Amino acid sequence: MPENKALWINAKRGPFTVGPAPYTAPRADEIVIRARAVAVNPMDRLQQTLGDIITPWTRYPFVFGSDVAGEVVAVGSGVKRFHVGDRVVGYAAGSDKGRKRAAEGAFQDYVVLLAPMTSAIPDTVSFEAASVISLGVSTAACGLFQKDFLALNAPSASASPTGKTLIVWGGSTSVGSNAIQLAVAAGYDVVTTASPRNFAYVKGLGARGAFDYHSKTVVADIVNFLSGREIVGALAIGPGSAAACVDIVGRCKGNRFVSMATLPTSWDDVPAGRGRIFHLVPALARMIVGTIGLNQRARRRKVRTKMIWGSALVANEVGPMIFEAFLPAALAEARFVAAPGATVVGTGLAQIPVGLERQRQGVSATKLVVTL
Ligand SMILES: NC(=O)c1ccc[n+]([C@@H]2O[C@H](COP(=O)([O-])OP(=O)(O)OC[C@H]3O[C@@H](n4cnc5c(N)ncnc54)[C@H](OP(=O)(O)O)[C@@H]3O)[C@@H](O)[C@H]2O)c1
Repeated sequence: MPENKALWINAKRGPFTVGPAPYTAPRADEIVIRARAVAVNPMDRLQQTLGDIITPWTRYPFVFGSDVAGEVVAVGSGVKRFHVGDRVVGYAAGSDKGRKRAAEGAFQDYVVLLAPMTSAIPDTVSFEAASVISLGVSTAACGLFQKDFLALNAPSASASPTGKTLIVWGGSTSVGSNAIQLAVAAGYDVVTTASPRNFAYVKGLGARGAFDYHSKTVVADIVNFLSGREIVGALAIGPGSAAACVDIVGRCKGNRFVSMATLPTSWDDVPAGRGRIFHLVPALARMIVGTIGLNQRARRRKVRTKMIWGSALVANEVGPMIFEAFLPAALAEARFVAAPGATVVGTGLAQIPVGLERQRQGVSATKLVVTL
């Protein structure tokens, strides 16, 4: 049996520690991969500092992490799509409420993945490049395709143009980079926001229009651009995105719905240890005030809003829609690219907290990756 190692959090809000971990054999609908690259996400940081609030079902010691690519080393009895040696990318679902399983966290050498949440990757796509995909594509897909969100048509090689437009606020984020590509592959036009240095990047992913979210006139500019067009709603990503999207959607013709990836206020400055209460109480107060303000704004504009939970697709038809039906062929035919580009910050599990700290300081149209 292979020897496994993991980046553990041993108690709630505890530090990351590298140590031995059991090797877990796959159940019927699972595979095990030897992880070769993992990407870090804002959520991984928040699970360390605020895991007791945002994922209260977690039982410690635990292994977090969602984004992983590697080689298949074992295949469950019911799995037909994968064989030992296949190169894959998968959504490591361990911290989802329905899974709650350290063996399914990405931050370890041998990761258990759900087969329906895993895609083969072509030889032209490196493990590092592929590792950026999973949480970004999953969060985007939850907001775009789930029935109780925007309920868009599924992405496919043969999607007909709908002539309708989706607004993606935050197109250069990891979630946004995936959302633009998924929506275009489903037949929608996309209008997005980014810093001007990333306009060429988001247009390269398929966006028709790109607007600077720093501009004071950005909402009016987008509304003007959309004049005479029918919208299918908005995906709001990044600080301040939900209020701006409510304002845009409320002034356009079409579906008055905003799928929200980002909470109305940030929790980034709440530490795991010393000074926690000092920062937590104002963050909670800001959250309550921000949520009430957003709800009032949405009611005034007659717009519905709903917060995305990025792993919800594990339990519904959207997971296989993306990881089985769409991604493998789309990646092989380069109709979908792993985006944003990976920036490798180091090698080995101990480098993951280094990547998380760099992530906290901010990235632009790139995703931080650790090779294993
Ligand atoms: N609900 C969920 O389940 C879930 C899951 C995953 C992520 N998220 C959330 O989704 C958001 C994006 O995460 P990510 O990992 O995709 O981010 P990321 O790639 O780390 O975000 C970096 C990008 O953010 C952009 N940005 C910064 N401020 C912005 C603003 N005010 N409006 C729009 N874009 C802005 C920057 O764009 P420029 O460089 O072009 O300025 C930069 O390219 C975060 O808030 C994260 O917490 C939620």
